[in-house]
Amino acid sequence: MTRRVAILISGGGSNMVRLVESMAGDHPARPVLVLSNRPGAGGLARAEALGVPTAVVDHTRFPDRESFEAALDAALAPARPDILCLAGFMRVLSEGFVGRWAGRILNIHPSLLPKYRGLDTHARALAAGDEAHGCTVHEVTAALDDGPILGQARVPVEPDDTPGTLATRVLAAEHRLYPAVLRRFAAGDTTPVRLP
Ligand code: GRF
Repeated sequence: MTRRVAILISGGGSNMVRLVESMAGDHPARPVLVLSNRPGAGGLARAEALGVPTAVVDHTRFPDRESFEAALDAALAPARPDILCLAGFMRVLSEGFVGRWAGRILNIHPSLLPKYRGLDTHARALAAGDEAHGCTVHEVTAALDDGPILGQARVPVEPDDTPGTLATRVLAAEHRLYPAVLRRFAAGDTTPVRLP
């Protein structure tokens, strides 16, 4: 059975584009919606250009997380997604929302979890003098950046790296990792993907 994937974004959507482009041919999933919490997110136009339906649920128009997430549910329902992929989605989701999607919601985080949960991961890896950094795709649970790991990609830290150069190298690895994890996850296999 083809799995129906909704992708949640807040920005440019480069990960979303790679996920959408990967779901073709004998891939067990297909994109059914790209949803953004920001009306101006550049990824919305990229999704439309790829022929994927889009939706916006502007979080600034809701008084609290609960009403925002009820609107998320309402926007997602018509697409009947089986899997949610958070891809640069910059809102923290409540335990209630995550619980409704338990086992069916993924996120990509720009560090080798469990190292560097939260923000500014590249600067923190450089400050720590790490020789390797990378990204992780994990199942989303109520605890931030803490669910079961479904894949990781490692990148070397170069001596002259800045947070920006390291972020660029990690983003390229994200674009390889997330599609590989989604294909395996959509086929019902949660064996972690390791790249390289
Ligand atoms: C990436 O840096 C990723 O690590 C983080 O948010 C950013 C998403 O970028 N989760 P994009 O919107 O997919 O281009």
